[in-house]
Amino acid sequence: MSNKQHAHWSSRLTFILAATGSAVGLGNIWKFPYMVGDSGGAAFVLIYLLCIGLVGLPILVAEWLVGRRGQKNPANAMADLAKSAGASRGWMIVGISGILGAFLILSFYSVIGGWSLYYTLSSVTGAFSGQDADGISALFSGMLASPGLLLVGHSVFMLLVIGIVARGVTKGLEGAVRSLMPALGVLLVVLVGYGMTTGYFGEALSFMFNPDFAKVDGGVVLAAMGQAFFTLSLGMGIMMAYGSYLNEEINLLKTARTVIILDTLVALVSGLAIFPIVFANGLDLSSGPGLIFVTLPLAFGNMGGGVILSLMFFLLLTFAALTSAISLLEPVVEFVEERTPLSRFASTLVAGAATWALGIAALLAFNVWSDVLIFGLNIFDLLDTVTSKFLLPLTGLLAIVFVAWVLDREGVRRELGLGETGAKVWTVISRFIAPIGVIAVFVSSL
Ligand code: PHE
Ligand code: NA
Repeated sequence: MSNKQHAHWSSRLTFILAATGSAVGLGNIWKFPYMVGDSGGAAFVLIYLLCIGLVGLPILVAEWLVGRRGQKNPANAMADLAKSAGASRGWMIVGISGILGAFLILSFYSVIGGWSLYYTLSSVTGAFSGQDADGISALFSGMLASPGLLLVGHSVFMLLVIGIVARGVTKGLEGAVRSLMPALGVLLVVLVGYGMTTGYFGEALSFMFNPDFAKVDGGVVLAAMGQAFFTLSLGMGIMMAYGSYLNEEINLLKTARTVIILDTLVALVSGLAIFPIVFANGLDLSSGPGLIFVTLPLAFGNMGGGVILSLMFFLLLTFAALTSAISLLEPVVEFVEERTPLSRFASTLVAGAATWALGIAALLAFNVWSDVLIFGLNIFDLLDTVTSKFLLPLTGLLAIVFVAWVLDREGVRRELGLGETGAKVWTVISRFIAPIGVIAVFVSSL
């Protein structure tokens, strides 16, 4: 165990690509644009930016700081830091719940990754072409009803994830994000370019940015705060694990700012790529899976150049899902690798196989096990609820509380390169505002 070398990112750029790759996911593409349009446009964006600055950023920095100081998997990093701060090693539970959250999320996230692969393939075979609304809906429900199809998608997706993560941080993770992130950027730009030619770009702009403060209420603020947390992949040990491969030179605050700007940019631009297509085809607005897997394919199937646009869109979605999925597997693998005599490769196989197996239970929830309900939820929804409502917020909350209240303040101030005023601002935000924000979201979601 002890002769294993702990890896490091080869540059600040690849770290930024990897962290942004984790952050950019379904939350940016299918959730944020709709929230903006539905909850007050520019007024929502303004509130979101406040939330991400006051809640997202401090927790992101806190997780990186724990990882970098520990240079180990989230559980051991928390234990070591707690011990040297004279606190209980029981803080280890924060790392463990993060790793557990990542494991549970990946099991069903991979099922959605499989949908995305299937839709990429369906784009190429022209399966959407000339279909009406009923035909497109039947395609989606037909996929969900087929355990075999879902299993193939889930398995192929997990194999890709395992293949990347098994090769380690430098060859695997960095190698993947170096090509996937630029490709993602190019696809997004081309899709927005297309949106500009539809004649409905202005409508999309005003849908997303017309400020309407009347729509902003407490619920909207809470939703913005929840999104700020989810969009940065917080509370899952991901950012702790990624931080553990950081070395001392990197400025955490500046790097967090860059990742947040990129994540927000992708979210905003996604809306400007999607909404012109929806409006130009006179389709109904919806959010979530319906928008991506029903509304958009309907549009693609009935417009000129739809096959190529559809292919580009689902590739974009697949790349976004893949770079998030590898970040979900990483904390689990790092934990197994450091706590057992297994090699990186073997650890990835073990962690990947366990995730894959649980994913099968999740995909059966759409068909043969649809009647299996636990607390009134099918297995897929149960995994989603347990993680997003409980594990994630609690883990994120404890992480920021630990850094703000348990670690020595002077050390953290120096590590973040803060002056006197900066330190005061950090103290107020990290000790009070961010924790209260997470607690508010947690309580209101119950
Ligand atoms: N941050 C991703 C998004 O915004 C979501 C995600 C959650 C990614 C959990 C990885 C793990 O879509
Ligand atoms: Na995101």
